[in-house]
Amino acid sequence: MNVKKIAVIGAGLMGSGISYVSAWSDYDVTMVDINDEAIGKGMERLRSYVESGVKRSKLSDSEAEDLLGRVKTTTSVDDAVSNVDLVIEAVYEDMDVKKDLFKRMDAAATPRTILASNTSSLSISELGKVTERPDKVVGMHYFSPVPAMKLLEIIIGEQTSEDTIIAAIVVGENQGKTTVKAKDSPGFIVNRIRAKMGRECILTYERGIATLREIDTALKEQYGVPMGPFELSDFVGLDVSLGTSSTLYRELGDCFQPPETLKRLVEAGTLGRKSGSGFYEYGEDKESVLEEPKGVDPEWLTLRIILPYLREAMIEVEEGIATKEDINKAMILGTNYKEGPFDTIERLGLDMIREELKKLHSEFGDCYSLPKMLQ
Ligand SMILES: NC(=O)c1ccc[n+]([C@@H]2O[C@H](COP(=O)([O-])OP(=O)(O)OC[C@H]3O[C@@H](n4cnc5c(N)ncnc54)[C@H](O)[C@@H]3O)[C@@H](O)[C@H]2O)c1
Repeated sequence: MNVKKIAVIGAGLMGSGISYVSAWSDYDVTMVDINDEAIGKGMERLRSYVESGVKRSKLSDSEAEDLLGRVKTTTSVDDAVSNVDLVIEAVYEDMDVKKDLFKRMDAAATPRTILASNTSSLSISELGKVTERPDKVVGMHYFSPVPAMKLLEIIIGEQTSEDTIIAAIVVGENQGKTTVKAKDSPGFIVNRIRAKMGRECILTYERGIATLREIDTALKEQYGVPMGPFELSDFVGLDVSLGTSSTLYRELGDCFQPPETLKRLVEAGTLGRKSGSGFYEYGEDKESVLEEPKGVDPEWLTLRIILPYLREAMIEVEEGIATKEDINKAMILGTNYKEGPFDTIERLGLDMIREELKKLHSEFGDCYSLPKMLQ
């Protein structure tokens, strides 16, 4: 399938970014939303990406004009999908909303059209089942902000065909993305591993092992993460973190249970930077939540926190979700970590990881048990 025309459904944060990278890579794009106001906002965001491209000399004035000329808009899903090769859906993260849309798109699109979803957590196989073309349904999971983030997870449903996977990879690579393949499963590659790391940070704090600031500083300095986990959570929004953890808890069980501190903060409306406070306060004194440091060794603390994250990466390989190579690529590009989990595993050595995990297992139970790779 040679994709030339793309329809993007939803002109929000993700849809406008996907429309921009598609038009940037010469595809004809039709961007759809429910009303003119939503389309106006989406076009405004898309234009701001174009302007920033021109300012950074990535686009000339005439290229910018051509790019904008390749983007059409409409409020009619039926019209938008009736004559395109690929549809990328980026509406609200709600299974019922997405299922209705997939049924409708299936009825209006030509039989050759591929239907992709940018869902962060919902099942691609389930979406495929509401259509007459489950072989042509695939996940294309972009990361935010779409123009800047290089990673694209290609999510393979139970019935997704090889041709569909290849077509999605080719489009992603033309859009300047590095693609990785993941089996349809809760949280795919990055969000599942990242949720495990975030949970471990909060549990380490709740267990009184280290303060928020000590954990953030240790991970930034020792592991090269660009933002500490609590800083990142405050930036993204604690409600968003709780939403992802709750989905993973429902699908994968107790080892993903959202920690009490996260639930309590969200219930109190303490959602991070957007509400003025989250794990930290964001008044004039940015660090007004000052706690007495526990004085833990940062190297020990970092190892303590990343062990469950490395364990999760090994479990993803065992469950056939992705290869080691793709997990490494995905974690580096999707989170800006300086190395992938299997690079860390190689650096630290399996023996050392096995011994340290055994200690955590005996202290904290089965969520720290040895994955098969270490047995
Ligand atoms: N925000 C992120 O960081 C991120 C990252 C990866 C994936 N995602 C996923 O991408 C999807 C969109 O997220 P977002 O952050 O862009 O949301 P958003 O709220 O910014 O945008 C959603 C848009 O979809 C429109 N919409 C809703 N129903 C529609 C319909 N039936 N037809 C046409 N348009 C419709 C809304 O009006 C809105 O403009 C979700 O599935 C989300 O989980 C989000």
